[in-house]
Amino acid sequence: MLKGLIFDLDGVLTNSAKFHLGAWNNLAKELGIDLTADQLDGLRGLSRMDSLELILKDGGQETKYSEAEKEKFAAEKNEKFLEQVETMTPDDILPGIPELLADAKAQGLKMAIASASKNAPKILNKLGIMGEFDAIVDPASLSKGKPDPEIYVKAQELLGFEADEVISFEDAAAGVAAIKAAKQFAVGIGSATLLKDADYLVATTADLKLAEIEAAFNKK
Ligand code: BG6
Ligand code: MG
Repeated sequence: MLKGLIFDLDGVLTNSAKFHLGAWNNLAKELGIDLTADQLDGLRGLSRMDSLELILKDGGQETKYSEAEKEKFAAEKNEKFLEQVETMTPDDILPGIPELLADAKAQGLKMAIASASKNAPKILNKLGIMGEFDAIVDPASLSKGKPDPEIYVKAQELLGFEADEVISFEDAAAGVAAIKAAKQFAVGIGSATLLKDADYLVATTADLKLAEIEAAFNKK
C-alpha cells in the first residue's frame, strides 16, 4: 500500500536545475570546456564535486588541477548558483506540484526530500514549502551520491516505510537509477530517452496526477 512520496528537488519541485546547469556551463566555458547538451543533462542529480569531476573529464582535464583548485572552482559555481537562489519565490514552484502535494496531504501520505543539494533547505524555505515535508535527507550524511541508492533508501527509512510503500520522483537519469537500485517505484519527469528506466514517465510536472500515478503503482 502506498504510504509516502519521496521527491528530488532541483528540476522536480522547482526549476533550479536550470540554474545549476547554467552555472556549470559558465564555469566549464571559463576553463575552456564546451559541454554538449547531453553532457550538461548528464550532470543532473550529481553532487557538486561529482559534477565538477565529470566536467573536467569531459574536457580532458581530469588531472590538470589540484584538490584546492577544484574546491575553489566548486565554491565559485556555488556562489553564482546562490545568487539565483536569492531571486526565488513561491512562484518558482513548478506547475502541478502544489496540487500534487495537496492531494498527497489530503490522502495522509508522508513526504520526504532526497536531494543531493546542500542548498535544499535554503531553496525549500525560499519556495515556502519547507513545512510540507516530514523528512529531508542531509546529503552530507551520505557516503555515495546518485546513482547509488543510498539517498532514496535513507529517505524511505526516515519516513519509516518499506521500498514497496513509496513512490519517488526524479528528473535525472542518475536519480532514476538510484530509485530503481533502491527497489522503489520511479516517476521520471522529462525526456523519455534519458529517463527510459522510470516506471512511469511524464514530460513535465504539469502532467503529474496523483490518482493516475497511484493506479500505475498499484498495478506493479
Ligand atoms: C542536485 C542537482 O539536486 O544537487 C545537481 O541536480 C547539483 O545539479 C547537486 O550538483 C548538488 O547541489 P549543491 O547545491 O549542493 O551544489
Ligand atoms: Mg533533479
